[in-house]
Amino acid sequence: MGSFLSPCIQHTTMIVLAEYDEPVPRPMLNTYHIGDARKIHKLIPSQPFVDVTITSPPYWNLKDYGSKSQVGYAQPYEKFLDDLEKIFGAILHITKNTGSLWIVADTIKHDGELILFPFDLAQRLKNVGWSLHDIIIWNKDKTLPWSHRGKLRNIFEYILFFSKGKKFQYYLSELRESKDLKEWWIRYPERYSPEGKAPSRTWTIPIPRQGSWGENWVRHFCPLPIELVRRIVLLTTKQGDVALDPFAGSGVVLAQAAALKRRFVGIDLRRSYRRMFEDKVRPSIERLEESNSKSLGKDEKQKRKFASLIWRLRKTKYPRELVRLYEKYYGIPKMSGVLELSIGLKTLNVYLLLGKNYKSTKRLKTRLRKIMRRPPLSKYGLKVNIFPLLPNRHSKKFSFPKCIKSRTRLALYSSRNTHQSTGQTTVRAFLKSLGEVNGHRRNKSLLIASNIHLKVTKESVF
Ligand SMILES: C[S@@+](CC[C@H](N)C(=O)[O-])C[C@H]1O[C@@H](n2cnc3c(N)ncnc32)[C@H](O)[C@@H]1O
Repeated sequence: MGSFLSPCIQHTTMIVLAEYDEPVPRPMLNTYHIGDARKIHKLIPSQPFVDVTITSPPYWNLKDYGSKSQVGYAQPYEKFLDDLEKIFGAILHITKNTGSLWIVADTIKHDGELILFPFDLAQRLKNVGWSLHDIIIWNKDKTLPWSHRGKLRNIFEYILFFSKGKKFQYYLSELRESKDLKEWWIRYPERYSPEGKAPSRTWTIPIPRQGSWGENWVRHFCPLPIELVRRIVLLTTKQGDVALDPFAGSGVVLAQAAALKRRFVGIDLRRSYRRMFEDKVRPSIERLEESNSKSLGKDEKQKRKFASLIWRLRKTKYPRELVRLYEKYYGIPKMSGVLELSIGLKTLNVYLLLGKNYKSTKRLKTRLRKIMRRPPLSKYGLKVNIFPLLPNRHSKKFSFPKCIKSRTRLALYSSRNTHQSTGQTTVRAFLKSLGEVNGHRRNKSLLIASNIHLKVTKESVF
């Protein structure tokens, strides 16, 4: 069984050959450069070409990477921050106006005190012009079982998200998912985007386990989890964009970017890390992404099914909410039932079947319009046409437009439950049953009939 490794929290001393003193390579894309990130301007072009930087710098003195050019180890804390400020300042210049920067970092215990490294770094980066937008908690789920007096077991790190400009790339729909929803989505479809649930600010992603790459080499690194990098790449870039990691290490960022058809630039001091990237990391991530894309079809189908269900649930709930809100503000409307007909994905015709004692529908319409313009109904995203109908004075029948066929099959819903129909009827039978009710409610429960047939349970999609 493999043990769990915490990225960047190992006091491992490495023996390194003088491999970082090689001449500066020619600037180019899709390259893992060997060099000092402080000299980034000598390594890569200085015009803005980077879309996203995803990185995890050394955590000050926690780990000796064995190079005299390394930042962090054996440096005074302030000098270390100066170096990072310089590096990320230079990255700002080569980042496009729509670009962003994501840094994984953690607090550091030093001489019995907690150093707020992520927050000190954020302040330095704000000074050089980066705008801090969000801090995400990366819950590593399982980690080393050690705790110390005054410091509990560490299971999370911080992900800092900065942008260069106000209009940064941010494709939230890429991260929405319809998995692991609480059953609320059935009763409150208006609160769930048909595209799925937006991710929260806590990301639970296990750290790469020793052996998870098939070999023990991962022990010598503190690789970022593939899933964490994948999320950020999808959220912030499109195909062909450029991802940078100035502290590339095992090269997970570069490999994941390439596997998602982005271009990449990496920098690190050690050639052996680059070899690992080329020999192990890149091929593994490529294979993984290939098998991911095979299961993508299934995910896509589920997403579409979820979206269609959310729209249908919103449509069956809408008339019930309309009547509920009317009752709340103006008292119970004299109405024997509601017939709703869904036309297309987001359009709904609602026929309110009024009692005979309404003389005019003018005031009712004004009130309904007011309710429909305000939340929560304005948030349903539906185009709703309301038709208050009065029964004919003599025949006591409702006259419908010709397009409504009397044999159309309808599902019946109660005013309490609009996600599981209680029975079936037809337009003709429904109207007949309302004739018996004659403008008054049976058991205070409004009858709703719809051409949407639902029997939704939590398991309906998953
Ligand atoms: C926390 S690790 C990054 C791990 C990487 N995110 C991954 O997924 O494998 C920090 C890396 O910074 C590199 N490093 C330290 N000082 C550097 C410098 N001055 N220039 C470039 N890389 C440096 C180290 O060699 C190490 O690989």
